[in-house]
Amino acid sequence: MEFKHKPVLLEETIEGLKIKEDGIYVDGTLGGAGHSKEILKRLSSKGLLIGIDRDEEALKAAKENLKEYTNVKYIHGNHDEIEEILQQQNIEKVDGILLDLGVSSYQLDERNRGFSYLGNNELDMRMDKSQQLTAKKVINSYSEEELANIIYEYGEERYSRQIARNICNARKEKEIQTTEELVKIIEKSIPAQAKKDGHPAKRTFQAIRIEVNNEIKPLYNTVRKCIELLKNGGRLCIITFHSLEDRAVKNAYVDAQGKCTCPKDLPYCVCGAKSEGKIINKKPIIATEEEQSENSRSKSAKLRIFEKKWYKKQKKEVSNMPRYQYETSPRKLEPEYVPVRKKTQKQNTKSTQKQTVKTKYQIQKEKKKVERKNHAKQIALVLVIFGMLLAVSYREIHIMEMFNNKKEMENQLALIQKENGQVEKDIKAEESKLDWNVIRQKASEELGMQEANKITVDLNKTDNVEKDERLIKEDNTSFIEKIIEKLIF
Ligand SMILES: C[S@@+](CC[C@H](N)C(=O)[O-])C[C@H]1O[C@@H](n2cnc3c(N)ncnc32)[C@H](O)[C@@H]1O
Ligand SMILES: [Zn+2]
Repeated sequence: MEFKHKPVLLEETIEGLKIKEDGIYVDGTLGGAGHSKEILKRLSSKGLLIGIDRDEEALKAAKENLKEYTNVKYIHGNHDEIEEILQQQNIEKVDGILLDLGVSSYQLDERNRGFSYLGNNELDMRMDKSQQLTAKKVINSYSEEELANIIYEYGEERYSRQIARNICNARKEKEIQTTEELVKIIEKSIPAQAKKDGHPAKRTFQAIRIEVNNEIKPLYNTVRKCIELLKNGGRLCIITFHSLEDRAVKNAYVDAQGKCTCPKDLPYCVCGAKSEGKIINKKPIIATEEEQSENSRSKSAKLRIFEKKWYKKQKKEVSNMPRYQYETSPRKLEPEYVPVRKKTQKQNTKSTQKQTVKTKYQIQKEKKKVERKNHAKQIALVLVIFGMLLAVSYREIHIMEMFNNKKEMENQLALIQKENGQVEKDIKAEESKLDWNVIRQKASEELGMQEANKITVDLNKTDNVEKDERLIKEDNTSFIEKIIEKLIF
């Protein structure tokens, strides 16, 4: 069968990827390579496209479609393992990644794949035929409650409980093997008036397909991984067809962008929110009316674009609205569905969320705290300077006092020395008097009183204080020696 699939949002996606001619691009949902061909047209021979699909038939069709291109690598694998796939190719980072999720028109139309509620085929629905879980296994082995939840959550089917109950009742008698058998059970479970809303089995078939191929649970983590694998400035474009897919992608983008809670007037983020890049379109891009009328598959398609960016300083987000038509009122999702993202968020963000989500009030509080600290520091500094000045002036005063004391002491010393000098003089005068008396006595003893009186004519003159002074001033020993000489010889 010919591979027929019309790529949705083609122009918007190619523009969203901002293709660099020498870049490395990954199409994680190669399919019939409708998008990939447009990417390859924009690549030089140095550029490279890695095409991943878990459906080998899709890979075959892609190879045929891209046979003129040599710079393509075809990989049979699951894009949830994109990191490992790129590692095997020795590729660390890429310039762009595209995920055009869900099934292709080809897969739906290929009746023997069991995706379609039209015709009568084996209940299969596997995109990768090597996997164990089939739709038949899900329908025949899951509990009634599990089936009801899957049909309700993935199929958004109001009559999920009745359908699940009827499946379980039917399989008690005989294993449900074909798509036709399942369609009949569904039709039986839905009231007549609800059947006007499209084919009654459409939603249940979608739900079973999502479960078989595990299309939603790993999606949040896959998106985060894809963002990690982008080079700076690299783009990630994801097209979803289911509200739960879109929610997982949106949540992953928002978390990767990081939530800045800084006041709006600050040019740079100061709240510590970490960002891996920015969401290019806040609202998903949807197909134009023209495309929707040409391709009914495009009606539920939503394109979200993310750009990887590392900022030295986290520059604040500036809204960058693309020129495409936006969905005006996104469908409200069932609140009770808990996708993988919630668990991951709990695990991953225990520490980071505390960091990232700060209220305006908290920021103001922190600012005031810093201001108070600075104020206290200034006061402490002034006190220290004042204390130092006090210490210096006290020392000055002390030195002055010491200086004055020294002067006074010197004066006193001088006075004492003067007094001491006087005392010395007095003592010497006394001594000289004594000496003189001894001399006179000696002279009178030796020479007799008369001779002694003759020699010492001027004794009368010297026998007074003046003489004593003369004795002190002059060399008294030599004077005494002269007199003794006179007296003796
Ligand atoms: C909507 S189609 C893609 C069509 C493609 N963009 C084109 O223009 O022809 C989705 C394709 O992705 C593949 N696919 C879905 N989930 C996948 C997964 N987890 N890993 C790899 N391929 C996947 C499907 O087998 C299918 O071929
Ligand atoms: Zn911030």
